[in-house]
Amino acid sequence: MSLDHAAVKPHERLASALAPELVAVDALIRARMASEHAPRIPEVTAHLIEAGGKRIRPMLTLAAARLCGYDGPFHVHLAATVEFIHTATLLHDDVVDESGQRRGRPTANLLWDNKSSVLVGDYLFARSFQLMVETGSLRVLDILANASATIAEGEVLQLTAAQDLATLEDTYLKIVRGKTAALFSAATQVGGVIAGAKEAQVQALFTYGDALGVAFQMVDDLLDWTGGAGIGKNIGDDFRERKLTLPVIRAVAKADSGEWAFWVRTIGKGRQDEGDLDRALELLRHHATLDSTRQTALDWAATAKEALTPLPDCELREMLCDLADYVVARIS
Ligand code: IPE
Ligand code: IPE
Ligand code: MG
Ligand code: MG
Repeated sequence: MSLDHAAVKPHERLASALAPELVAVDALIRARMASEHAPRIPEVTAHLIEAGGKRIRPMLTLAAARLCGYDGPFHVHLAATVEFIHTATLLHDDVVDESGQRRGRPTANLLWDNKSSVLVGDYLFARSFQLMVETGSLRVLDILANASATIAEGEVLQLTAAQDLATLEDTYLKIVRGKTAALFSAATQVGGVIAGAKEAQVQALFTYGDALGVAFQMVDDLLDWTGGAGIGKNIGDDFRERKLTLPVIRAVAKADSGEWAFWVRTIGKGRQDEGDLDRALELLRHHATLDSTRQTALDWAATAKEALTPLPDCELREMLCDLADYVVARIS
């Protein structure tokens, strides 16, 4: 492996391997985010889309299709569909989470208002369905419609589990699988389906996407505590929102009576004072739950990598394999 090869991050290598198709995806996104009648729509969408984003999900779709030998045009539609769904969920998510920063920019809810974010999110979501209908595949429609319902289910489950100190790891996993992994697995699966891949390969792509998505969200939850250069989001949003992510669930399980009182006050009752975020972080460090969460994410990444075995052994597969390592190692 050359030094250059090692220095370039896996998602960047994927991006250069898929460059022409990614350009087509971006062009399609731009064309379809337009609105003849409501200028607020492209304003809000451009604000978010132009800020970039890693484009991991559309790359997953493109890579999966190519890996399965697809040479038609519709993987581009599907990749754009997936990014539209993702963008719609981000607009809604930042309203729900009352977040102020996304992709290094103030959120749309902050710059415009909650109403604009919700309605433009709805618009993008509807546009995503128009795009997928154009592929003519009912199976693809089935997968992405199911994923969309599952994402919403995950977000609602998270809403009702927030503040509940009795939340179990099993519930956390359900939330993460719903709100994040469902779109990752749909992204990879539809790539295989559009390529007409064998069922075993479609299943392998599903398992890869699911495990990758779980690992990805676990690390996102770590980054909410530890931050890092280029994260582009505020630190401590989850604590403020009283969300029980994995490091907290594990620290609560190990709490002594003083620590328990702290969690009851800050998360159970939501009475948070200055210094509480630092104190919470201290407890996570004390019980080594940031480390143990990273270890669990590594296990999911290993599951993702193993799942790739039935797929053709080629450079793209290797990049997907490296991507699994990267989502755990990433700091942004
Ligand atoms: C953010 O996803 C939402 C989560 C599921 C954690 P990404 O981290 O992929 O967001 P962008 O698209 O790169 O900004
Ligand atoms: C994002 O969840 C999941 C969806 C967008 C459905 P989070 O709320 O944990 O993600 P960030 O940290 O805001 O990106
Ligand atoms: Mg959020
Ligand atoms: Mg959220």
